[in-house]
Amino acid sequence: MQEKLNNIYKSASEDIEKAQSGADLDEIKLKYLSRKGELNSIKKGIKDLSVEEKKVVGSLANEISNKLENALSAKYKEFYQKELDAKLEKEKIDITLPGKYIPRGKEHPLTSTTEEIVKIFRTLGFSQIPTADAPEVETEYFNFDMLNVPKDHPARDVQDTFYTKIAPFTVLRSQTSNAQIRTMEKMKPPIRIIAPGRVYRNETLNARKNNFFHQIEGLYVDKGVTFGDLKGVLNEFIRSYFGAARPTRYRSSFFPFTEPSVEIDVQCIMCEGKGCRTCSGTGWLEVLGAGMVDVNVLKGVGIDPDVYTGFAFGVGVERLAMLKYAINDIRLFFNDDKRFLEQF
Ligand code: PHE
Repeated sequence: MQEKLNNIYKSASEDIEKAQSGADLDEIKLKYLSRKGELNSIKKGIKDLSVEEKKVVGSLANEISNKLENALSAKYKEFYQKELDAKLEKEKIDITLPGKYIPRGKEHPLTSTTEEIVKIFRTLGFSQIPTADAPEVETEYFNFDMLNVPKDHPARDVQDTFYTKIAPFTVLRSQTSNAQIRTMEKMKPPIRIIAPGRVYRNETLNARKNNFFHQIEGLYVDKGVTFGDLKGVLNEFIRSYFGAARPTRYRSSFFPFTEPSVEIDVQCIMCEGKGCRTCSGTGWLEVLGAGMVDVNVLKGVGIDPDVYTGFAFGVGVERLAMLKYAINDIRLFFNDDKRFLEQF
């Protein structure tokens, strides 16, 4: 019996030594150490032995089964470690490699400037109308007629305005002032609104002029609104937008839909008023047009000019952004140059 046990030990040890994988080990375990395995069938015979033999054979059997168990688990560990090493080797990542550059989009400077301007007028009590309430493709009625622009006014000329073939008398709006009429036809005073949007003009391009740009229209109509209110609101806007004081001037002007009318210039930041290409040598950039709403406009929309007065303004978004960030050419906003856009 002892010999049998020793033989089992020998052949089991050899098998373990030769095993190639965990699966081989499983088989060996089954063959020698399981309930129906070779070792156990010997152990079953022990009960028929004499007391002396029982002791000797029993302890040998236990010793062998312990040794085999240990050898097996050492091998299991070895295989597990090998597998793990191979896996780690295969899935290794080099954390010293530089990361991949993933370019990110940013808000366009005109978007942020528009939002900034809108915010200032909000704090001054103006609310923004929905963009859809004053469309970019507009009829002459809203873009010109109701704004008191005479039929033969040069602004109506195809040289200045883009006419469309979508329908008769349809233009790409040349100003956000269509928002004035669209609002007053729907709303009764008090009215205090702003309307940001894109406008189109058939112009010769230069550093200050593009054939589309952005404006923010403002309109304030109520009892007793005066030119003093206009100045108060617009001065506060300019002060608030630029933060620090900037040389600014009011120039008397003319618009068919306001009387009296003004334009506000801000000193050119590129040349500090000395004159350069951006300001065409004048030292100033016009940033907005404004005035008291013309009596004819109020009458046209059925607001009694003897009871109500108002002022309107149209702010040039590009010009204001140029003056804040020292951008010397309006076309930079629109040619999608990442080197320009990434600076904001
Ligand atoms: N619509 C005028 C322009 O585009 C600006 C303006 C708006 C002037 C409102 C007066 C009142 O030049």
